[in-house]
Amino acid sequence: MCVIDGRLPLSQAQPKSSTRQSVPKIRARKGGEPIVCVTAYTRAIAEIAGPLVDLFIVGDSLASVIYGHDTTLPISLETMIAHAQAVMRARPKALVVVDLPFGSYEASKEQALQSAIRVLKESGADAVKLEGGAAMAETVGFLTARAIPVMGHIGLLPQSTRVLGGYALAGRDKAKWPALVEDAKAVEAAGAFALVIEKTVEELAAEITRSTAVPTIGIGASAACDGQVLVVDDLLGLTESTARFVRRYANLREIVQKAVSTYAEDVRKRRFPATEETYPARTNSED
Ligand code: KIV
Repeated sequence: MCVIDGRLPLSQAQPKSSTRQSVPKIRARKGGEPIVCVTAYTRAIAEIAGPLVDLFIVGDSLASVIYGHDTTLPISLETMIAHAQAVMRARPKALVVVDLPFGSYEASKEQALQSAIRVLKESGADAVKLEGGAAMAETVGFLTARAIPVMGHIGLLPQSTRVLGGYALAGRDKAKWPALVEDAKAVEAAGAFALVIEKTVEELAAEITRSTAVPTIGIGASAACDGQVLVVDDLLGLTESTARFVRRYANLREIVQKAVSTYAEDVRKRRFPATEETYPARTNSED
């Protein structure tokens, strides 16, 4: 058996469960074993990480992570669906939640329903996520009453950075806490099965987690939440994020740089391809 750095190869990694996650199973994890979540945008990541996590979010963060935009605003519903389809092709056991992108749900609850139906029908994903607290509660209620599972997203709202003026910590000012707790309660009362809390102080995340009966999933919101999510490219060290809440578990940037530079040198010195990587005329085999 090939053991790399004392770790088991992927095929030996033990899945948490052989059955698929579901919305009720995730909802029932409130206050229990922490929910493990990462973003996923591709089939490869979904195949590798699928057996190891409870939840994937096909986040609109792919606007910057994959497409290099400065904000999440430019990404379209069609692009979100295409990435959700790629993730679903891995047939992950993890629950798959897809972000409704900016402009696909704010105009009316009917617009939100049409967008959510497209996501679920065209990708086969399990649920949608949308940003906003009390102001979006009516929309959340409209979707959940029509069999669309919805994950809420409160705290820092990346789709609102134009009005917020940037990506500042939500609730640094204690006077804003009651409104943020009310946001969480409103989205929960409207039927959301879980809530992402983004970039806020520990005391507020703890209060929201205590005041709601659905799991809270934090990103930059402390260990007080019922689960954690990280952008997968941050966790793998593919991005150069300097956010305080990001922990890098690998440095893929360095690994990629070393691999490509060795390949480049091999090509320039005619060391690649070697004989065993070349098809001789006599072989019948094409692979
Ligand atoms: O788009 C995203 O990556 C998110 C994370 C907070 C999960 O919404």
